[in-house]
Amino acid sequence: MKKQFKKLLVTGGCGFIGTNFIRLLLKERQYEIINLDALTYAGNLENLSDLEDHPLYTFVKGRIEDEELISSLMKEVDAVVNFAAESHVDRSIKSAHPFIITNVLGTQVLLDCFRKAGCKGPFLHVSTDEVYGSLKEDDPPFREDDHLLPNSPYSASKASSDLLCRAAWKTFGLPVVITRCSNNYGPYQFPEKLIPLMIINCLQGRRLPIYGDGLNIRDWIFVDDHCRGVLAALEHGKAGGIYNLGGNCELTNLQVVETILTLLNKPRELIEFVDDRPGHDRRYAMDISLAQKELSWSPDVDFETGMERTVKWYLENQNWWQRILSGQYQTYYRDHYGKDL
Ligand code: NAD
Ligand code: TYD
Repeated sequence: MKKQFKKLLVTGGCGFIGTNFIRLLLKERQYEIINLDALTYAGNLENLSDLEDHPLYTFVKGRIEDEELISSLMKEVDAVVNFAAESHVDRSIKSAHPFIITNVLGTQVLLDCFRKAGCKGPFLHVSTDEVYGSLKEDDPPFREDDHLLPNSPYSASKASSDLLCRAAWKTFGLPVVITRCSNNYGPYQFPEKLIPLMIINCLQGRRLPIYGDGLNIRDWIFVDDHCRGVLAALEHGKAGGIYNLGGNCELTNLQVVETILTLLNKPRELIEFVDDRPGHDRRYAMDISLAQKELSWSPDVDFETGMERTVKWYLENQNWWQRILSGQYQTYYRDHYGKDL
């Protein structure tokens, strides 16, 4: 049976997946939405600027760990979808601190304020396959009851937040639902992640830095499919439920980059093998049978179609990423990596 709620607090709605999720909701549902976002380097108000005057949509700038703000917002809503996070593994290796503040402390503040306001829920927490750690070549895909064995500060902070959500469900009976998704790609993804970084570097004739031997495997999912999975879990997931979401699309990083080179008709010589990421997870893959069965959800978009749409979006929205490259992010990258993007 579909759950009844009217007004949602969506956190991190100015980031990559949050933006696509809010667009999906405003197109296909009638929920009122408050989008709370701190507008960190990864949050971009411009992503939703065409929807600013939408009668069902309100933006609030703020942080999820701000208790006073969150407790006042919880009084206005029934349900929560928590996308807000520090999301990039490489940054977490440089400094774990913001990851602990947002991903761990922030999630706990949301849970506490949700409980104290008596929200009826659900509270949907958006998590990642990275909490399970790394698979060997012949291992079966991750299942929801696998051990959590995170390897990076990012994935450790996400696993911590998953456990705090579970504890809130067990201890206080909060209607918490967790989704764990594999690697997303699509429009509005910040160009620090593999696919947008490679597309943009190709368009600028720059080298394509592949970590290690390029044979690490990720399970790629088009962002719309992830957003539909989150919506299905929000509307139909059971309290305390954990649902793996994935694209059934395991590819090596080299295969991904070669797809981009082909789509943009660029030479393979642009590839540059660089030092490996410390603690680099070798392989992720998701068993999504529970979500298929309980949520009637499956990914729809195959990799070829999704990549064509993604490359087209970055080609048609050069101003979007040019502004990012020339602004804050450029400075950040230079400070942290000692070189230009
Ligand atoms: P993103 O980095 O693009 O966006 C994160 C957003 O959260 C930004 O708008 C940022 O401003 C906001 N934010 C950060 N700290 C905040 C704070 N303290 N308070 C309020 N807002 C804050 O990330 P994304 O790729 O859209 O990921 C969204 C969620 O999905 C994250 O929880 C991430 O762990 C999870 N996830 C991502 C992927 C992926 O492939 N990108 C896969 C699985 C799960
Ligand atoms: P990324 O997009 O950072 O996602 P995650 O680390 O969360 O999976 O990286 C995807 C894969 O691509 C990962 O194996 C690391 C690799 N990678 C590169 O080889 N070069 C790069 O410049 C980046 C950003 C990632």
